[in-house]
Amino acid sequence: MSDSNYDYDVLVIGAGPGGYVAAIRAAQLGLKTACAESRETLGGTCLNVGCIPSKAMLHASEYFDAAANGTFAKLGIKVKPELDLDTMHGQRRDAVKQLTGGIEYLFKKNKVDWKKGRASFQDAHTVKVGEETVTAKNVIIATGSSVTPLPGVEVDNEGAIVVDSTGALELPKVPEHMVVIGGGVIGLELGSVWRRLGAKVTVVEYLDQILPGFDGDIRKEANKIFKKQGFEYKLSTKVTGVEVNGDKATVTVEPAKGGDSETIEADAVLVSIGRRPNTDGLNLDAIGLKSNERGQIEVNEEFQTAVDGVWAIGDCVPGLMLAHKAEDEGIACADNIAGDTGIVNHAIIPSVVYTWPEIAGVGLTEEAAKEAGHEVKVGKFPMMANSRAKTNHEPDGSVKVIADAETDRVLGIWCIASVAGTMIAQAAQAMEFGATSEDIALTCHAHPTHSEAMKEAAMAVREKPIHI
Ligand code: FAD
Ligand code: NAI
Repeated sequence: MSDSNYDYDVLVIGAGPGGYVAAIRAAQLGLKTACAESRETLGGTCLNVGCIPSKAMLHASEYFDAAANGTFAKLGIKVKPELDLDTMHGQRRDAVKQLTGGIEYLFKKNKVDWKKGRASFQDAHTVKVGEETVTAKNVIIATGSSVTPLPGVEVDNEGAIVVDSTGALELPKVPEHMVVIGGGVIGLELGSVWRRLGAKVTVVEYLDQILPGFDGDIRKEANKIFKKQGFEYKLSTKVTGVEVNGDKATVTVEPAKGGDSETIEADAVLVSIGRRPNTDGLNLDAIGLKSNERGQIEVNEEFQTAVDGVWAIGDCVPGLMLAHKAEDEGIACADNIAGDTGIVNHAIIPSVVYTWPEIAGVGLTEEAAKEAGHEVKVGKFPMMANSRAKTNHEPDGSVKVIADAETDRVLGIWCIASVAGTMIAQAAQAMEFGATSEDIALTCHAHPTHSEAMKEAAMAVREKPIHI
């Protein structure tokens, strides 16, 4: 299958979940494949400084919190937890090491050549990687994203006071007071880690509610749950500056719409106001490719850019910035290059926030469904009435099913539950199969499981649930 005019059939730039998956798939399809990565290890943001290390800290801190906040005591387990932060960090580093090493093994197994170094285009088929020049018939840009900077706020991860998500994963001690700038996914996940370990956490959010992009009811409910856990919020508030003095920071905030400013003292400040695509340094000018006003590379539904032979996937293209979206795009893009049909249904990408409880959703929010012209019928079911959640002392949360009033087709499902991230898979699958709320309501769900709440919420769309 190889075209001998080029060194490779496919060169992937970036070895995150988009890039490494595309490279493995391309190689599995018989294409001679290389992957350029400038980091020391494979796996991109996700494995090195994103999904995996954050989940390692969330998992460990969740146990600590359960032991410290009385949850274990309710179960008849008496313990007095003592924090060994070095060991907690150690197990995080181990998870990263094992998983990034696993990708290296998969590259070798599938005969994907890892080109170490930063890649930049010379022309559409010629890429300089470090000192080496590599030619390829197809180049996939999978360069991912990095933290959006906040003007007036200087991140210094080494200093461990004003940090981004990477620095917040590594804090050497539990801060007394952490100010989180941005009440989105990173702010709530990493804010949860340090709150559970003993920090006071104040979230400063520009909008009037946390978690933009999630369903309105779910955002409100999540807000209440986190408040009950001890989070403090300053909503509709913007940060105008952060000054560091010794080991303390002074955060200046003012109402989002203008007004008197005030200051907050903290010993850690997490900047988590979003991420932006990595395209600097790729020398896109050399191939006549321009990014859009958000810095993203535009692609068609086959993941082709405007330049023949150049493709793009993952966080550097429009859409949700999620690892599983990047992975699915990687597979579909490689399939398209090999001449198969690779499709990603961008309308059904689940989102999960791995807090306690977890928050998950797929499809349209109620607001977006109405805006799209649907008349909707909504069914809700509280986790408090779910036998398993109740037995496990996990009463917080609910499931919300949004269906089209006329056709009953499910438009979106949103939930807050201890295992919402696992529950949302069935919602995504049902929606892929074009399910109606009645289909979910009539599907037998095992008892006692948290997922029964989804069945009951689906029942609530057209009839009545049994357990409330
Ligand atoms: P990336 O993973 O960013 O990988 C791109 C790679 O390209 C990087 O390794 C970079 O070094 C390399 N690169 C860039 N430019 C060049 C170049 N010129 N030459 C060579 N190499 C280059 N998503 C989830 O779905 N679930 C989660 O739980 C989750 N948790 C997260 C937690 C945190 C703290 C963060 C920051 C992100 C999290 N995400 C999560 C988002 C997820 O990490 C990204 O959506 C995902 O990594 C995007 O994959 P990607 O392959 O597009 O890019
Ligand atoms: P985000 O977009 O989720 O949240 C950023 C928040 O900051 C928003 O609520 C926004 O209104 C607010 N904001 C923006 N400017 C502000 C300002 N000046 N002052 C105060 N608030 C401001 O971005 P976040 O949390 O940084 O995460 C980046 C990306 O990483 C997300 O898009 C997400 O997809 C991905 N991610 C996914 C995770 C998951 O799937 N569990 C976990 C962590 C990250």
